[in-house]
This record gives sequence, structure tokens and C-alpha cells, in this order.
Amino acid sequence: MSYYHQEKNIEEYIQMAKGYNGQKLITELLKHLPQDSRVLEIGMGPGTDLTILGQHYKVTGSDYSEMFLNRCRKTYSNADLLVLDAVTLETDLKYQGIYSNKVLLHLTHEELKKSIKRQAEVLDPLGIICHSFWWGNKEEIYNGLRFIYYAENQLRTLFMDSFDIITIRKYQEIEPDDSLFIIARKR
Ligand SMILES: C[S@@+](CC[C@H](N)C(=O)[O-])C[C@H]1O[C@@H](n2cnc3c(N)ncnc32)[C@H](O)[C@@H]1O
Repeated sequence: MSYYHQEKNIEEYIQMAKGYNGQKLITELLKHLPQDSRVLEIGMGPGTDLTILGQHYKVTGSDYSEMFLNRCRKTYSNADLLVLDAVTLETDLKYQGIYSNKVLLHLTHEELKKSIKRQAEVLDPLGIICHSFWWGNKEEIYNGLRFIYYAENQLRTLFMDSFDIITIRKYQEIEPDDSLFIIARKR
């Protein structure tokens, strides 16, 4: 069973993530994706960013962990929520934006390539993606969970086949320049 499918780990993550949110990313996204657009969040976890996105967009939350989703169903009873794996994104619905915060870094390189291709299919023409990663050039396993760190060039190479890159920039989550976000438009 994976890390995010065990109750004690979900609790640990929620405690660890307290006080952090994707406000900086969403502020950047708002510069490129108009308010009221239909946005899919991948890997919403506890749903902190879903609430912020919901102030601006028609948002659908998703995660591959039923445990996170069950919690969010209770906390945000009106929210539109789906079980979705970031790699396969098995939905017939289309979105104008796709957002994730520190999610795609758990995928292998091959899985990330598949996810990017699938994201392009799930997006409307000229749809926008906004994703964050930890910045760096290493791979770690923590409690059986993979973390792949990315630098600007790697992200550019991965996304450039299907997307025109708008911004790739470092930012601070905990320490200066520890994180990286990409905003890009479907070609
Ligand atoms: C580091 S947490 C980030 C959670 C949330 N985005 C936040 O900012 O607090 C990673 C999240 O990605 C989800 N996740 C990991 N791999 C996934 C996958 N293949 N498909 C969908 N969700 C995934 C986990 O269940 C977890 O909610």
C-alpha cells in the first residue's frame, strides 16, 4: 500500500502541511487563466488550495487517495471531487486549466511524460497548466514515497512537446528557491 493510502500518513501529512498553501502559485495562474474558468486540481490532498482556487474558478478537486477524498467530502460537502490518478487522468470531462501543487514530483519520469500527454488531451484548446515541484537535481525515497527534484531545463524539456512554456520560476516554500513552478499553454 502506498504512503498516501494509510491513515497515519495522511494525518502526518496534514500536520506537516499546516500553514502552507499555494496562494503564490494561484496568483501567478490568475495572470494567465481568466476567472471562472473550469480548473482541475490533481493531488488536492487536504484541499487547502482547492478552497483558494474555488474563490476564482469553477474547480474540480481530485486525488488518487480515497482517504484524502473522503476527508474532503466531509469538510467541503459542496465540492466537486473525483478519484483520479495523475498518470492516467481517466475522465471524459474537459478543463480550461489543470493545477497541482507538489504532486507530479512523486511520479517516475516515464509516468510524468504520460501524465503530461494526458493533460494535453484533457485540456481545451489553449488550456493552461500550473504545477509546482521541489527545485534541484536529485531523487529521494522517504517512507517508500518517491520525490524527484527538478531544474528549469528538465521541466522545459518535458513539457515543450505539447505546451508553450509561459513561465518557469523558482520560489520559496520553506527556504529561498527550494521550489519551482511551471505555467504553460497547450499548443
Ligand atoms: C505532497 S502532497 C500535496 C497535497 C496538496 N497538493 C498540497 O499542496 O497540500 C501529494 C499529493 O499528491 C497525491 N498523489 C500522489 N501521487 C498521485 C497520483 N499518481 N495521482 C493522483 N494523486 C497523487 C497524494 O495523494 C497527495 O495528496
